[in-house]
Amino acid sequence: MPAPGSGELQLSIEGLVKRYPGSEQNAVDGVSLGVHAGEIFGLLGPNGAGKTSTISVAATRARPTAGRVTLAGVDVVAHGSLARRRLGVVTQVNTLDRSLSVGENLYFHCRFFGLSRREAKQRSSDLLEHFDLAHRRHDRVDRLSGGLAQRAQLARALAHRPSVLFLDEPTAWLDPQSRLALWELIRNLRERERLAVVLTTHSMDEADRLCDRVAIMDHGRILVCDTPEALKRSVATAATVELRLKAPPSPRLFQQLEALHGVEGVLAEENRVKVLTSARDGLVPQLIAKVGSGLLDLSVSETTLENVFISLTGRKLRD
Ligand SMILES: Nc1ncnc2c1ncn2[C@@H]1O[C@H](COP(=O)(O)OP(=O)(O)O)[C@@H](O)[C@H]1O
Ligand SMILES: [Mg+2]
Repeated sequence: MPAPGSGELQLSIEGLVKRYPGSEQNAVDGVSLGVHAGEIFGLLGPNGAGKTSTISVAATRARPTAGRVTLAGVDVVAHGSLARRRLGVVTQVNTLDRSLSVGENLYFHCRFFGLSRREAKQRSSDLLEHFDLAHRRHDRVDRLSGGLAQRAQLARALAHRPSVLFLDEPTAWLDPQSRLALWELIRNLRERERLAVVLTTHSMDEADRLCDRVAIMDHGRILVCDTPEALKRSVATAATVELRLKAPPSPRLFQQLEALHGVEGVLAEENRVKVLTSARDGLVPQLIAKVGSGLLDLSVSETTLENVFISLTGRKLRD
């Protein structure tokens, strides 16, 4: 099997600008990117970074202010309805029809995209089977749990066999177990159907573990774009030491920690302190000595995409 992302270019965004009426700022401020068949591409960034706006334009749900988007070679502005046949989308809010059953949602979607009654019936059954929803086929969608509803949305997004799949914060409301299950489904789709998958997330963990390439966005712009491994290698941080203290650190302690050799930065949130380090050897004992009896707990974690975001912006990426 070809390596992820070695396939044909399925989505191309060039110089995309989106400014909403009445706004002084561009929500998307010159974004360019390309996504290939068989690739999971992540837009990672804090709230308001412009992730949803970017994929809304690409998925023909919003019009660009400037720039050009082509999807499977089709210009999404000039040929919106043609582009819509080639894309599937799962939005942040559940857009299944609540008055219909799970099976009917799929069936009518297929019919809308021009499948015959027979084809639509067959395709719906296959999807229900594949997404492990067959036993819930006759249930109304408002009776489904969050995880099942997301699976039903995903099944519907794929029903007309798109080339590009857009997922806007697909796991934001899911419990950890449903989140893992959905990651697995998305990975399988990438491999089985050679889809180009574009997802937005504000979870660094999700971006790291699910995506082949990640673009980190802030204020409407892409700051960096690469594989998660390359992004993590690019920062000076070697590890993050997290301290849990009995009380928030005093300004003096904060300064002492910052001054230690090998400390790149210190972030404090109430009684939790994150120490970003470039040289780990011998540092943990020094941290313990400085904090003294105020220490409740300590953990060390390897570099994450959050470290990348912090080193680029000086800010935290909030979950
Ligand atoms: N429909 C809209 N009308 C006006 N402003 C909007 C609209 N949608 C988003 N915005 C603004 O555009 C910016 C980017 O938002 P969005 O694309 O939703 O970011 P993200 O998905 O990364 O959280 C934010 O400042 C947001 O307030
Ligand atoms: Mg969003």
